[in-house]
Amino acid sequence: MLTRREATLISTFVVWALGMQCPVAFGQSLLDMRTPKAPPIPHINGPKVYGARPGHPFLYRIPCTGTRPIHFSAMGLPSSLKLDETSGIISGTTPDVPGEYATTLEAANSLGNVSRQFKIVVGDQLGLTPQMGWNDWYSYYEHPTESDIREAADAMIKSGMADYGYQFVDIDDAWARKPGSSDPQLEGPARNADGDILSNARFPNMGGLTEYIHSLGLKAGIYSGPGPLTCAKFEASYGHEDADARQFSKWGFDLLKYDWCSYGTVVKSPGLPEFQEPYRKMSSLLEKQNRDIVLNICQYGMGEVWKWGRKIGGMSWRTTGDLGAVKGGSLPGFYSVGFANAALDAYAGPGGWNDPDYILIGTVGDANDINLPAKPTHLTQGEQYSYMSMWSLMAAPLFFSGEMTKLDDFTLNVLCNSEVIDIDQDSLGRQAKVVRKTPQEFVLAKPLDDGSVAVGLFNLSTEPLTISVPWSDVERSGTLMVRDVWRHESIGAFANGFSSQVPAHDVALVRISPQRTLPVSPAR
Ligand code: GLA
Repeated sequence: MLTRREATLISTFVVWALGMQCPVAFGQSLLDMRTPKAPPIPHINGPKVYGARPGHPFLYRIPCTGTRPIHFSAMGLPSSLKLDETSGIISGTTPDVPGEYATTLEAANSLGNVSRQFKIVVGDQLGLTPQMGWNDWYSYYEHPTESDIREAADAMIKSGMADYGYQFVDIDDAWARKPGSSDPQLEGPARNADGDILSNARFPNMGGLTEYIHSLGLKAGIYSGPGPLTCAKFEASYGHEDADARQFSKWGFDLLKYDWCSYGTVVKSPGLPEFQEPYRKMSSLLEKQNRDIVLNICQYGMGEVWKWGRKIGGMSWRTTGDLGAVKGGSLPGFYSVGFANAALDAYAGPGGWNDPDYILIGTVGDANDINLPAKPTHLTQGEQYSYMSMWSLMAAPLFFSGEMTKLDDFTLNVLCNSEVIDIDQDSLGRQAKVVRKTPQEFVLAKPLDDGSVAVGLFNLSTEPLTISVPWSDVERSGTLMVRDVWRHESIGAFANGFSSQVPAHDVALVRISPQRTLPVSPAR
């Protein structure tokens, strides 16, 4: 005779298993949903290591899937931090004493429980793993409003994205006043009598907005630049850097994207010192604030920023121009951006990441005509899996920039795969190396903290291809276990190497491990 709990467990599992990985017919096309549905028992996602500065406000919502209510607990949490057991939000002040605080996070519901290591490293480094979140640019361009940003934050929770580790909700350009504009929503003095920057009428309450985002356990990002004006010609920070750093901190922001734009009018023919100076200035001002503010350097890769971005205080740096404006040829634009970024693996690591720009899928605007309404992506399903696989292998910041209120099941299945995200967020913090690049094939390999290696076999051609990776190409030997990362399935044991049939413009993403370290999907 089954107990009631056992019966519930079995029936929940059956319902869940039936819903897994079934191709779903949608209109004419068959949706190839590779990500298994999250199991009903809890599963904790996100980074296993987290950097924070001493004595600063701390906020972290434990990313966790599974049927709610979930009861959270944490062992070894520093006494200055507290955990809300229902929401899983950790808040408080980081310890004054730098050091590594080894914590074990636990999540339990009526069906089971799970734990995950989470090391809080109190010191001078933020961004020990790549940042994850959403940025409004490709959804709202020059017209974001406070309510758009609030809706996006709500959607990050409701869609489940936050349960996979997406955390930052970032306002891009066009929140400030626009000098010279006669638009009643944008006009007016850009600063008050004290020199403090003012938001425009579309953002009536910046402090209230960040407070709301924080109340959800999420973080808030803002945007400015070292020139007098932003790219969209709104007020920026030139000559007011100190006041702006203080204001961003006072408003409660956790990230600043600092975009070169009109700084070219300040320095006419910049060399390395001129490229570095404005970012060095802003990073040292941000460091003086009494909260952790991540600095995202945005200057499109000038002066080989990857070589010095970390040294001057950036936690990520854009390596190329705007991805959304890249006109693809035989391959969509994200491939060429990815190829350029992939060559820079030597420069990425804990605390500083190569940033190849946002994940542009779902319902997304056209950067070459920002007045057109946002439209469903033209990328094929295989291309979308390739995009997300490439970004995760490259340990890129994962910022979705399509419309959060129009998230569909397919887009979520691309954005929210726990094992793909584990590759991006891996504690070792290595960016994949290029193993092979030919006109037909692109192979990336990323060593992981547990001794396994993630490999992406990308088919760049228009025909199906068999793509191989000999173990010698990924510095491994012997018989190794191969796991299909998207589908959370073990493929089997392979001696000497692995080959996969990959459809056109698609990817096989595998994790190669000695058997003892094979990651076990929570469901199997
Ligand atoms: C530049 C940046 C984009 C975006 C726009 C805003 O083009 O590269 O990411 O921030 O400015 O105007």
